[in-house]
Amino acid sequence: MSEVVLAYSGGLDTSVCIPLLKERYGFDRIVTVLVDVGQPRSDIERGNNRAKQLANEHYVIDAREEFVKEYIFPLIKANGSYEGYVLGTAIARPLIAKKAVEIAMQKGIKNLAHGCTGRGNDQLRFEAIFRATDCRVIAPMRELDLAREWEIDYAREHGIEVPVTRDKPWSIDENIWSRSIEGGKLEDPYFEPPEEIYGWTKRPDANRKAQIVEIGFAQGVPVSLDGVPMGGVELIEKLNLIGGEHGVGRTDMVEDRVLGLKARENYEHPAATILLAAHRDLEHLVLSRAELRFKVMVEEAWSEMAYMGLVEDPLYSDLNAFLDQSQKRVNGSVKMKLYCGNAISVGRQSPDALYSQDMVSFDSQTLSQKDSEGFAKYHGFQARLLKIKGLKRT
Ligand code: ARG
Repeated sequence: MSEVVLAYSGGLDTSVCIPLLKERYGFDRIVTVLVDVGQPRSDIERGNNRAKQLANEHYVIDAREEFVKEYIFPLIKANGSYEGYVLGTAIARPLIAKKAVEIAMQKGIKNLAHGCTGRGNDQLRFEAIFRATDCRVIAPMRELDLAREWEIDYAREHGIEVPVTRDKPWSIDENIWSRSIEGGKLEDPYFEPPEEIYGWTKRPDANRKAQIVEIGFAQGVPVSLDGVPMGGVELIEKLNLIGGEHGVGRTDMVEDRVLGLKARENYEHPAATILLAAHRDLEHLVLSRAELRFKVMVEEAWSEMAYMGLVEDPLYSDLNAFLDQSQKRVNGSVKMKLYCGNAISVGRQSPDALYSQDMVSFDSQTLSQKDSEGFAKYHGFQARLLKIKGLKRT
């Protein structure tokens, strides 16, 4: 008997995969694995129901806690951002793939499938994990070169209810960190996104009163909201709701996919926007200038690896080791003002601040100003040498 484990979301692509794996690939049993990384409860329910109808065996794995601790917290330490994208879909893929592999191993199944197309990044992220096993990898969407229209018809023929219609053909990927929206008219980068694509954020409204939230950090990760200690999952969920009310965290961008294709992408991520801005702000209070300058390079490298899904590459753990060490003094809290689509830091404090109000103050005489005179004489020295020696600027 031939069996396959399918990484299953309950959406159109992966639902269509189930009959395809039977009809076109000849598998006898399809085992679906749905990983809960904080997508809406209704998506999970829909996934469970469809899997019951279509698959032979179905698993739901609640990985929210692990997703936040093992993927989102390192991302916050790294101020993770790829060309301005907060990496939500990107960092969830390796975890989903690993859970599918775990089930396959437990059951001794030698075939792994995913529902990604051949145009995007997700196929690469899944397969970086899948291909580290000795399983056969099956990618029906890519291998059969399927178009969305065809999928919709095929789904209907197989009794799969499809929420996507031809005029609302958004492809949406959600988890606790972000909501990614692609497809349809959005594929024209000049087309302004209609309000209806947004599910987490209200339209930014200048008449709405500003609100301040205070985020507490310990060793670079958020641990409290408005002074109340809170686990990561709850804190992120709360901030998504609060930030969403103020229209915080919309991104409309053109993104360079790993394959080289440029793609128009829309995202919503209120909590991510607030937490990343607060975290970076706190770092500026506590880290040295040298640390900040160097860390930017680590952040860039980390974000690139995370985007590509290369979390098993040794470099990824090397970078995380640096990030963990760099975050030991990143303790304190930041006041964030939410107003009309913006999240702005308006106050920060830390027991580990390198900041000295006494030394920097206009009103203080702790440091003698005269001491910096010698320093100032050498500042810009080489430029003056040109003049002194009568040399021309090239
Ligand atoms: N461009 C994003 C990435 O590569 C999101 C891809 C998935 N988005 C979607 N709507 N299906 O990480």
